[in-house]
Amino acid sequence: MFSKETYISRREQLRKDVKHGLIIIQGNNEASFNYPSNTYRFRQDSTFLYFFGLQREDLIGVLDCDSGEDWIYANDYDLDDIIWMGNLPSVKELAASVGVANSAPKAALTDVVNKAIGAGRKIHYLPPYRMKNMMELSNLLGINTSHVNRYASLELIHACVKQRSIKSAEEIAEIEKAIATAYEMHTTAMKMAMPGRYEYELAGAMEGIALAHGGPVSFPIIMTINGQTLHNHNHSNQLKVGRMLVMDAGCETAMNYCSDITRSVPVGGKFDARQKAIYEIVLAANMEVIRLTKPGITYKEIHTQMSKILAQGYKDLNILKGNVDDIVANGAHSILMPHGLGHMMGLDVHDMENYGEINVGYDDETIRSEQFGLGFLRLGRKLQPGFVMTDEPGCYFIPALIDKWHKDGTNAEFINFDELEKYKDFGGIRIEDDLLVTETGCQVLGKPIPKTVAEIEETMAQ
Ligand code: GLY
Ligand code: MN
Repeated sequence: MFSKETYISRREQLRKDVKHGLIIIQGNNEASFNYPSNTYRFRQDSTFLYFFGLQREDLIGVLDCDSGEDWIYANDYDLDDIIWMGNLPSVKELAASVGVANSAPKAALTDVVNKAIGAGRKIHYLPPYRMKNMMELSNLLGINTSHVNRYASLELIHACVKQRSIKSAEEIAEIEKAIATAYEMHTTAMKMAMPGRYEYELAGAMEGIALAHGGPVSFPIIMTINGQTLHNHNHSNQLKVGRMLVMDAGCETAMNYCSDITRSVPVGGKFDARQKAIYEIVLAANMEVIRLTKPGITYKEIHTQMSKILAQGYKDLNILKGNVDDIVANGAHSILMPHGLGHMMGLDVHDMENYGEINVGYDDETIRSEQFGLGFLRLGRKLQPGFVMTDEPGCYFIPALIDKWHKDGTNAEFINFDELEKYKDFGGIRIEDDLLVTETGCQVLGKPIPKTVAEIEETMAQ
């Protein structure tokens, strides 16, 4: 946990920004795996962590914008709980540890909410993503579960996004811890990526390193020789020379700050000529993003400039043709990268995505594109110092997509389909770093993880 002053000042700012009404911030509950008492690892809600820092299940935080009071509503453990779980702090003690002066049993919240509604005060809450929290809000507010998300408070969402988008020095230090663990995860897996091994052996080693550093992985590991499938969570394949291995994995610290790193390596440790050619193009795009990133430019613009590096590279390989600006304006290069350049990262690996991507990544100034490829960009808006986001260009030869565009003649004036056909057995490549926007540019966070062809071959030779 950070110091209680951190949480006090975050809540003060939130009350100021939301202005009036009652803010309800639900913590998470235990979630069952295969029977009620066999649960997944507990993961506290990130908004609750940001404003209250407490890791216990079944807590509700309430901020009264008008009176300035903060409350925790939760039930104390009883003797039965203590027998199984040991002595745990009371709700009052937990609340005090993060500077919350008031606490009460959960049932007391019903009256408080009813009174506030009766007095015509607004109840602000965030769109719940877990059914139990959705039902709790539904009961508390008398709203049908299917309508709960619709009435979530945009004022509260915007106020949370405003604060959480700018990472403090202590948050950046946590993120760098998560990247330090990702360094171990990735360099270990690189050295293991030899023919005969199975993907699950590498994924298991990575996950073990994350756990051994106090946190879980920040999302299910992508470890695949079929990297053309963007979120491939199958780990059953045996590694074979000739395949690129896409390793997209990060971890959470004990405080739940995340890392998200992708490296793509040739099975066996030596790039062949074709792998090297494609890899260098993606690497140039990744580096162009680092060069361009600074306050004031939109990430949408950086996505577009990065796309031009990709398009030029594919044009040089005779896969694409025509004018590079036209290729990118028409989205023809997206046949090889049907996803956005990156997303914010913090307490969530896709930071704040539960508030809605549009509310986090876009604003009145920067409108989300509807074009295939660019439309999937999660962060589009103007960058500010303190933003932390991923830089993750990729290249994917997706046979089904190639066939569809070929058949439909999509962007046919920019694509040499005959040449592209030859790459259908290639797989994919993605290279991902985590960037901090500084006052003048950006910093690639963490100790550099082998990324150039030479660095990767050298690491894999160890
Ligand atoms: N690294 C997985 C993702 O960004 O979706
Ligand atoms: Mn990512």
